[in-house]
Amino acid sequence: MEKLNRNILDLSPEKIRSHLGNPENFDIYVLDTVDSTNSYAKNLAQNGAKNNTVVIANHQTAGRGRLGRTFYSPAQTGLYMSILLCPEGGILEPAALTIAAAVAVCRSISTLCDKKPQIKWVNDIFVDGKKTCGILAEAGTDSGMLSYIIIGIGLNISTEVFPGELKSVAGSLNTTVNRSIIAGEIINQLNTLRPLCGTQTLIDEYKSLSLVLGKKISFTQKGETHHGTAIDINIEGNLIVRLDTQETIILKSGEISLGSHNFI
Ligand code: BTN
Repeated sequence: MEKLNRNILDLSPEKIRSHLGNPENFDIYVLDTVDSTNSYAKNLAQNGAKNNTVVIANHQTAGRGRLGRTFYSPAQTGLYMSILLCPEGGILEPAALTIAAAVAVCRSISTLCDKKPQIKWVNDIFVDGKKTCGILAEAGTDSGMLSYIIIGIGLNISTEVFPGELKSVAGSLNTTVNRSIIAGEIINQLNTLRPLCGTQTLIDEYKSLSLVLGKKISFTQKGETHHGTAIDINIEGNLIVRLDTQETIILKSGEISLGSHNFI
């Protein structure tokens, strides 16, 4: 494959806008280096930024992942994007929005890169057996109501070398598609999927992309490891697991491991 030689120039608000179905609805910030686009977007949210503000960085020095982890975010080779949603009336379906974001990323990867992404519950996206994208959703409250949510998406596009324990689990899209086009496609897809939040239609698509349904999984709760089979995902996005003891339980959050592997 052609060697990728990217620079910040493939990321610009104008290029992203030119790919958007309704560019007038979005405020877009493109930064070279930032600690975390989620933190930057949070600051904007607390200072009156509008619904549909998008922050994208070429490089993050302290990218954040779920469960207090860091997200490796080298310059040039990834898409690090946070979308601030703060609709009038507040955020009614935070879990469904992260599901919609995962589906939006998968649709974008299939459309632009001709690959078959799969979602490892809750919302890690795998391509060719490697974790290629992670999603971190963070909500903010105002007078007890969820007033905004920031959907942070970290997509490895052409990163070739990963540090330490990421080496065996992380991968990249290995595509030459321009990052502005990928960003625009994800934004468009999420915009299309938002009205489906809370519907079985969205869950059915999410299930069709699942890497875990029908598979043996394990997870740890209160210091105890459980083994079972992932049998369904309900309308709330919870994972239904039939334990090896035949007990059925509902997982609302957390992390599972697939088979004998310990995916990050
Ligand atoms: C995970 O895999 O645990 C979630 C990773 C989310 C990373 C993205 S990159 C853009 C946004 N800014 C952050 O600091 N984190 C998210």
